[in-house]
Parts: sequence; C-alpha cells; structure tokens
Amino acid sequence: MAEQILLSSGLQHKSLPENYKRPESQRPKLDEVIRDSNIPIIDLSLSNKAHIISQITHACQSHGFFQVVNHDIQKECLEKVVEMAKEFFRLPVEDKMELYSDDPTKKIRLSTSFNVRKETVHNWRDYLRLYCYPLEDYVPDWPSKPPLFKDVVSSYCREVRKLGFQLLGLISLSLGLEEGYIKQVLGEQEQHMAMNYYPPCPEPDLTYGLPAHTDPNALTILLQDQEVAGLQVLREGKWIAVNPVPNALVINIGDQLQALSNGRYKSVWHRAIVNSGKERVSVASFLCPCSTTIIGPPKKLTEDGSPAIYRNYTYDEYYKRFWSRNLDQEHCLELFK
Ligand code: SIN
Ligand code: FE2
Repeated sequence: MAEQILLSSGLQHKSLPENYKRPESQRPKLDEVIRDSNIPIIDLSLSNKAHIISQITHACQSHGFFQVVNHDIQKECLEKVVEMAKEFFRLPVEDKMELYSDDPTKKIRLSTSFNVRKETVHNWRDYLRLYCYPLEDYVPDWPSKPPLFKDVVSSYCREVRKLGFQLLGLISLSLGLEEGYIKQVLGEQEQHMAMNYYPPCPEPDLTYGLPAHTDPNALTILLQDQEVAGLQVLREGKWIAVNPVPNALVINIGDQLQALSNGRYKSVWHRAIVNSGKERVSVASFLCPCSTTIIGPPKKLTEDGSPAIYRNYTYDEYYKRFWSRNLDQEHCLELFK
C-alpha cells in the first residue's frame, strides 16, 4: 500500500528495511568521498561579463556543475522555499496522501524513492513533483497546505525561470553562439520542480537518497539545504561532496545541453546521499525543452568536422525513454547515438 512506503509518514525506522539495501558493490563508500574541495563558484554580480563567461566554459567542461552567488534571487525567497518544503513534508500523512501517485506522467504528485514501478531497490527519499509553467495552469491544483505554499513556491518559480534564462544566455555565449540561441531553440520551455525530502536514515552506508544519475532536462537549478550536505558529483572517477555555500544555487548541465553542445558540455553523474542524524531537503528546478522541440547541435558546433554525436530526437521521445527506465543505468543519451 502506498501509505507504507511514504517515508515521511511519521513511522520511525530503527534499521534499514531490506528493500532499501544495496548489494555491496553498489554502496556509496562514503569514506572515499572527497569533502575538502568544491565545484566552481561563480559570482554573477561581477561587472566583467567576459570573465563570467570564461568561468562558465571552464565549469561546464570540467565539472558539468557550478554554484552561482550574487544572483538576483533574494535570500528571503530562498529561505522561505526551503522552509516551505520542510513544512510540507511535516504535514500529517492524511494531508499528503491525497497527492500520492507513482505515475510519472502526472503533473502534480507526491511520491517516494524514484520510480517505484520500475526499481527493485528503493531510495531513502520522498518527493513532491510539480509542473510549474505556465503557473496559472498548475498552481490551482498545487498543495493547499501549508497555507502559504502556493504563494511562496510560485514566487520562487518565477525568479528561477528568470535566472535560468540568464544562465542559458551565458551558456550560449560560452559556446560561441548568439546569447539568445539556446533559449530560442528549446522552444516554449517547460519548468518542473522536485522538492526532495531525505529523512534521517538508520544505515546511510547501505543506501542512497538518489543513486548516481544524470538529469534528463536542459538545465537544473538546485536549492540545497543550507545546513545539511548530501549532493555529490562524479569527477575523474571520484565523488566530490558539494558543500553548501550561503545563498548559492547549484547549477548543472542536463542531458539536453550535452546533446545540444555536441558533447562539449557534459551532463555529469551525481547522487544524493543520506545521513543518520538530520533530515535534509533540496528543491530542484528543471528547465526542459518544449516537448515537440527537435534536439540536435547547431551548425556552428559541427562545422569544424566533428559530426553530430547523437541522432535528432524530440524531447517528448527522450523524456518518455528516461522515465521508462530505472535511474542507475547507463547514460540515457547513449541510447540516442
Ligand atoms: C537531484 O539530483 O535531483 C537532487 C540532488 C539533491 O538532493 O541534492
Ligand atoms: Fe539530479
């Protein structure tokens, strides 16, 4: 029954249930994680735009991830969203279950783990997934509890969309394209959100909040819990902990920008680990191509003789393929060569 699998149901777990335990070879090996380094931090308030662009080029090539600071989203707006996510998951289970669904095609749903219909081992996470654009189409059906949820989250969504487009402009320039190129070629972009809740876990060495995956969309903007770390990024075969930076947002290249940049920028493997002491939340916003958009590299990125790595496809086709699989399989883009 659905109620039994929602982790934020108030039930206390003294040990990790068997169906969350990874076999030895797939465990997170937390003592091997690099914790004293970080992904690049980019200050968007610098007046030297050329410098910002060169930092973006470097970050997208070397890590596929960076954090932005001094962006235009107010600190209070970030704090309120994180607080709202915590309040939502603290609601009594009866209030939350109305939204429960494990059908990935639903546009507003609360679920657990990743894709409970496909996976054999579960992940120590509950999540609320919301479509966010156009807001007026979706907000009426968003959670009505906590009472400020719709206001706080929709304000944040508007701000994130603006920041996302600013970043797509900088990323276009960093690839030598016109500033408006990526935004225009992705069409009327969808915007989705995942509010993630990772309760304290009795045996964090044996499981994940989210196992290694790449994001299927174009660009991800992640608001991390300011107090509790959990995101890790794979670089040169090693996992690096992304240490939270005050008021920063974590940005990563999704599969669609890897395809569009003809592999110059990488949609990098990342994962969320859990801990035994503290709950953690994160709020991921995804900019996604319009579903009918055909994804392929611009001429400029193939005319130097490097052929297109991936075949052309629509985002609709890609997204369906992504959700028809489990998370920790081969890179989904490999299926589009
Ligand atoms: C994600 O990869 O979607 C979320 C990772 C996190 O919770 O930090
Ligand atoms: Fe992700």
